[in-house]
Amino acid sequence: MPGPIWSDLGVAPVARRGKSPPMLGFHRDTQGRACFSGTPLGNLLAAAGTGSPAYLYDLDAIEQEARAMVEAFGDPRHEVAYAIKANSAASIIRTVVRAGCGGEVVSGGELDLALAAGVPRERLMMTSVAKKDAEIDRALAAGIRAIQIESVEEIPRVAARARALGSVARVSFRINPGVEVDTNAKVATGHERAKFGIGLDELGLAWERADAEPAVTVVGVGAHVGSTLKVVESYLDSARVVCQVAKARLAGGKALELVDFGGGFGIDYGMGPLPSPAAFLAAARALAEQEGLGSLGLVAEPGRSMVASHGVLVASVVQEKRVQKGRWVFIDAAMNDLVRPAMYGARHRIEPLDSLPSGSAVRVAGPVCESSDDFGEHVLAEPAPDAVVIRDAGAYGFSMASEYNGRPLPAEIFVRGGRVASVSPSPGPDAWVARRLGA
Ligand SMILES: Cc1ncc(COP(=O)(O)O)c(C=O)c1O
Repeated sequence: MPGPIWSDLGVAPVARRGKSPPMLGFHRDTQGRACFSGTPLGNLLAAAGTGSPAYLYDLDAIEQEARAMVEAFGDPRHEVAYAIKANSAASIIRTVVRAGCGGEVVSGGELDLALAAGVPRERLMMTSVAKKDAEIDRALAAGIRAIQIESVEEIPRVAARARALGSVARVSFRINPGVEVDTNAKVATGHERAKFGIGLDELGLAWERADAEPAVTVVGVGAHVGSTLKVVESYLDSARVVCQVAKARLAGGKALELVDFGGGFGIDYGMGPLPSPAAFLAAARALAEQEGLGSLGLVAEPGRSMVASHGVLVASVVQEKRVQKGRWVFIDAAMNDLVRPAMYGARHRIEPLDSLPSGSAVRVAGPVCESSDDFGEHVLAEPAPDAVVIRDAGAYGFSMASEYNGRPLPAEIFVRGGRVASVSPSPGPDAWVARRLGA
């Protein structure tokens, strides 16, 4: 007998007095319609009036996810720093901040957005292998928790900007731990050929340079080895190297405030359950304590696992095409709206919006003039439904969207309590035409 439908969503129901708990995150109602909090996504789309393609996000599910992570870290000194690149919508940033998270940013734009959306400055980490001077200046002026230094060459650059502004830069070394993890090569960042982080062989020189710079204080050491990690052990492999480096630094009589183990927790894209983010975070905390680093602040930088499962992309079916070897179903969402399949070979489940999947395998694609604009094989009835839902699209979906092929950015719809809380409409094709005419 199948369990309750929310049990495989990784999201427990919120108890409300006198009412049965709402089902948070993506689920189907008794008629088979795709829903958030019991409300069909089709109704939410109609209420928002945006048309398709449109992203919908369940803010209640995101908040619950964020709270579970903060609780798993279980100490106000420890920081779940939401990686804003995963989804930079202010409604989402505000939601995770309310749940107790800080933030991790990778550009001056993300920094300004995070501050304006209410992430406390002292809870922000900034990362990037090539920060421009203006971006370093913004981070220094804001007084964020730490600028993550990714190379020996960056140390004098940050020091020079701090001297120019009459401040002292709080920095954390992002090391490259030389760890290979089981993930797509395009999101593996902690191996020796990657552009990220200070190599272990460069570390001695990096400490020397930083210690000789009065305008720089090293407050931490960290790493991020990649995304979509499937096992906690991969996270710990990197975390152990970070701990060794931190311990050696402390043994040399230097102070440290934090160790940062990065993000990267995978989610179930339909291939079977993975360890929960809480399992990664609890293991990280246990490791730091075991290593005698329990008195330091721990930082983790999850992005995908906070939002991916709680966002979907809804698209309309435009047309079908029969060929000798099967059937194509063309939809009005494309690789410009969700690039993960084209870029990483990622698979997102595509299902009918208003009924349970049934029928035969068809190939689903968008209208963009690239063979890689192909969402793969999915089960859809013949004729195809009017609309489909592309699941697990909350992370690296809208934030990687482009206007390629003259296609405007998609709409975004934010849902709270089963109702539309706010809408970010698509700028529409006219805005694109007007801008390109001015180019
Ligand atoms: C430095 C850093 N931290 C955190 C993240 C977030 O990773 P994820 O979304 O897989 O949790 C990334 C992703 O690219 C990153 O580069």
